[in-house]
Amino acid sequence: MASDFPAADTAVVLLGRGMPHGEQWATLNALAEKLRADCSYAAVRIAFLEMTEPSVSAVLDDLERTGHGRAVIVPCFVPYDRNVAGWLGRSLAQRRKSGRVGISVAMAPDIDKSPAFAAAIESSIAIGLGTEDVVTALRPLRDTQTGGQIPPHRDQIFVCLGPRCAESGAWEVLARLRAAIKREGLDTNRPGAIDRAIVCRSSCLFPCAQAPAVIVQPDGAWYGKVSPDDIDEIVASHLRDRKPVARMLLRLEAALDDPTDWPLAHGQIGTIEIKDMFARFAMKKAGALAIFGTIETNDNTPDRLVGVSSPLARFCGIHGPGRPHDSIVTDAFGDWPIALGAPLRLRAGALHLMLFDVNRDLAPGESFPVAFNFEKAGSIGIDITVQPGH
Ligand code: FES
Repeated sequence: MASDFPAADTAVVLLGRGMPHGEQWATLNALAEKLRADCSYAAVRIAFLEMTEPSVSAVLDDLERTGHGRAVIVPCFVPYDRNVAGWLGRSLAQRRKSGRVGISVAMAPDIDKSPAFAAAIESSIAIGLGTEDVVTALRPLRDTQTGGQIPPHRDQIFVCLGPRCAESGAWEVLARLRAAIKREGLDTNRPGAIDRAIVCRSSCLFPCAQAPAVIVQPDGAWYGKVSPDDIDEIVASHLRDRKPVARMLLRLEAALDDPTDWPLAHGQIGTIEIKDMFARFAMKKAGALAIFGTIETNDNTPDRLVGVSSPLARFCGIHGPGRPHDSIVTDAFGDWPIALGAPLRLRAGALHLMLFDVNRDLAPGESFPVAFNFEKAGSIGIDITVQPGH
């Protein structure tokens, strides 16, 4: 809906795309200066979608704090990204719902739709034709002594500063991360250290719905919805103590963790004892969980595991050594007896249980119910916890 706010009560936010080194500052600053001189807007500010501070949220917060009631965001880049208005709108709606923002925000259309845009291009062409050949105009790149060297480090941490993450507090996450690394003595300036962590700013890392996203490499630890307040825990637990923080993990590729640190499930029915059960997602099969542990009996008469089921999975199978994953069949359960002194060991790379078509996203640390059916002992249900990794 159009507003009757006069220009003098309206703040303008010039929105740039952002670059790793903030090259757009100079351009947008010049534009902002001109608007300040020529127009009567209440304020003219600069914000960036990604990779450069400040974010739109930070600027709107500041405008609101300084008493502005309305802002117009002007995307100053081509080609226009049609997604921007959509996700920015959703982000602002969420902020408003949570009471964080009361300022009224309008979005100016893409500048390449403006009739003056073609005229500006034409005028730029005329200026370009009057300049010297681009190759002779180039200054040779200077090689610095340190430019080609990889700094010594153990961890490399990528903080996503893509558009969604920048809007969700990633700049503060970055600042807190740098401060915490320094406080723990893990910063790259400490001479002789072998546990240095280097921090890299990244454009979109892909799991935007989990913004802000942070990755710790080489462990392949993907953290999602990281708040600035979570940073101290990630630095102390993961970087210092080598224990990834399970509650924020989206994925962990390295088996850094000691499995004994994670809950293992146990159960007993009759003479059958189920021990040390845990689950991990099977890497190559979407929606497939592998279950490991040990099943033993204290009876002289062998028993058999004849079936496994879970309300989360469409079907469950047992994967024997040497069998391709696709050939798993549920009627193969009876092939492996459980005898006194010869427990059924379910191990990675050997015999283990598989749950297919798992209908819910389970994060590491979450549990789900599994029923074990034995030929003689009967049925027992236990809750099994998902560990990170695969
Ligand atoms: S913007 Fe950060 S994951 Fe896409």
